[in-house]
Amino acid sequence: MAASQIKSKQRVAEHGEVYTAEREVNAMLDLVKQETERVDSRFLEPACGDGNFVVEILRRKLVAARKRATPPRRKTPVPAEFEKQSVVAVASIYGVDLLLDNVQACRERLFDIWNGEYAAVCGKETNEECRAAVRFILSRNIVCGNALNMCLVDENQKDTEEPIVFSEWTLPFNDTRIQRKDYSFKELMPREEKKARTQDPGQMSLLADEEDQVEPLLQQQYIFDYRRHQSYGG
Ligand SMILES: C[S@@+](CC[C@H](N)C(=O)[O-])C[C@H]1O[C@@H](n2cnc3c(N)ncnc32)[C@H](O)[C@@H]1O
Repeated sequence: MAASQIKSKQRVAEHGEVYTAEREVNAMLDLVKQETERVDSRFLEPACGDGNFVVEILRRKLVAARKRATPPRRKTPVPAEFEKQSVVAVASIYGVDLLLDNVQACRERLFDIWNGEYAAVCGKETNEECRAAVRFILSRNIVCGNALNMCLVDENQKDTEEPIVFSEWTLPFNDTRIQRKDYSFKELMPREEKKARTQDPGQMSLLADEEDQVEPLLQQQYIFDYRRHQSYGG
């Protein structure tokens, strides 16, 4: 095991915190290669650490976003289209971790990767409103919680009663408005996965789009424009 895969012996003992090396991350993601190369496929990492899996997923999705934003006879992406595709890419990645410093580091790594590509492709056409919208999306998608009981934890990793709520983000209007729909994590989990988890908490899987779930209960719905200054709701 490389030294960069652990932060301290105490964290390994208390939280099983051993990071996965890049080569293994890529080998595992290659098992679901097609999904990782789809801009809008949804991924959840239920013990995301500081983000080794999710940052690689985002890198792959952003390559796909560039392709999708590049019309047939052009060599480079259309900036506004890349902006949209990149927002969809980042908004489809979710993570949970018990440790607040990991959650913060994970959000920052994702933001930096997204922002690097955004600046590289959109240059002068980048805008701060879109950056703020992506930060907001990451604050909701990468949460400090316990993936076993699906509730939030406090800064000392103590369970709270508050359920983890995830947002589904879509851009259904053919413009820069995002529709956000909130669902509780418990509601989103398919029955079989729930059962496996209660019996064996080690059985955490990296989930791509689940098809066998019953329609979950919608908690809240908001619409905001990622190009306009505003409050995003809740
Ligand atoms: C082995 S590390 C893996 C981190 C990352 N997935 C990687 O492969 O690099 C396990 C992570 O799970 C977190 N963790 C442990 N139990 C958890 C739980 N019940 N809910 C959420 N996160 C948990 C730890 O804080 C730690 O960051």
